[in-house]
Amino acid sequence: MLKIAVFVSGKGSNLQSLIEKIDPKKAKVLAVVSNKSDCLAISYSEGLGIDTFIVDDKHFSDSLSSDEITDVLQTKEIDLIVLAGYLKKLPASMVDSFENRIINIHPALLPSFGGKGMYGMNVHKAVYNSSAMISGATVHFVNRNYDEGLIIAQRSVDITNIKSPEEIAAKVIKIEHELLPYVVNCIAEKKIIIKDNRVEVSPLNGE
Ligand code: GRF
Repeated sequence: MLKIAVFVSGKGSNLQSLIEKIDPKKAKVLAVVSNKSDCLAISYSEGLGIDTFIVDDKHFSDSLSSDEITDVLQTKEIDLIVLAGYLKKLPASMVDSFENRIINIHPALLPSFGGKGMYGMNVHKAVYNSSAMISGATVHFVNRNYDEGLIIAQRSVDITNIKSPEEIAAKVIKIEHELLPYVVNCIAEKKIIIKDNRVEVSPLNGE
C-alpha cells in the first residue's frame, strides 16, 4: 500500500480527484498538510476523517514547523508526498528527507511557464499573453528548485481559439484531475523509475 501525504493551499480539487481516482487497494491518502488553516482543502479532508496538519501558519496556534511535519510524515511511514496546489516552497531539508518521493502538479507544460511566482492564474495569464496555442499540465519530481525536477507525465490542451486566461484555466484543470491520479496509480504499481537521470513510465495494466 502506497502511503500518501498531500500538501494543499487552496480549493483542493486536485486532492478530491486524487482521493476519488486512486486505486484504493494500492494507495491511500493518510495525511493532508496545508500552510493555510482555513482553506477548503482542509475542511474537505477533515470531513473525510483524514489527519490534517498545518505548517508554518502564524495565525494558527497548533501550527507545526517544517521539521515537525517531516517527523510526523516519517512516523506515519509516508512513501509519497504529493504537492497539489501547494503554494509554499518546501525547505531543502524536507526535499532531501524524501528524495525522489515528492511530486508536484503544475498547470502548464514545463519547462515553460514555471519558476518562482508562476502559480495559479499567474501561469494562465503568462500563457495567454504569450499567444501560445497549446498549454497543459505537468507532473514532475520535486527538487530544491521551483518546477525544475524531472518530468514524469504531461498532457496538452489546444488553446488556439481561447479568449481569456480563465478559459485556459478551465481547460487545464480538467486535465490535471486526470493526470495526477494517473501518475500516482503508476507510482503505486511501481511503474515509474528514474534511470540515467531520466524518468521511465511503463503503461498501467489495461492500457
Ligand atoms: C492547480 O491548478 C494546480 O496545478 C496549481 O494550483 C491549482 C490548485 O487547485 N498548482 P486545487 O486547489 O487543486 O483546486
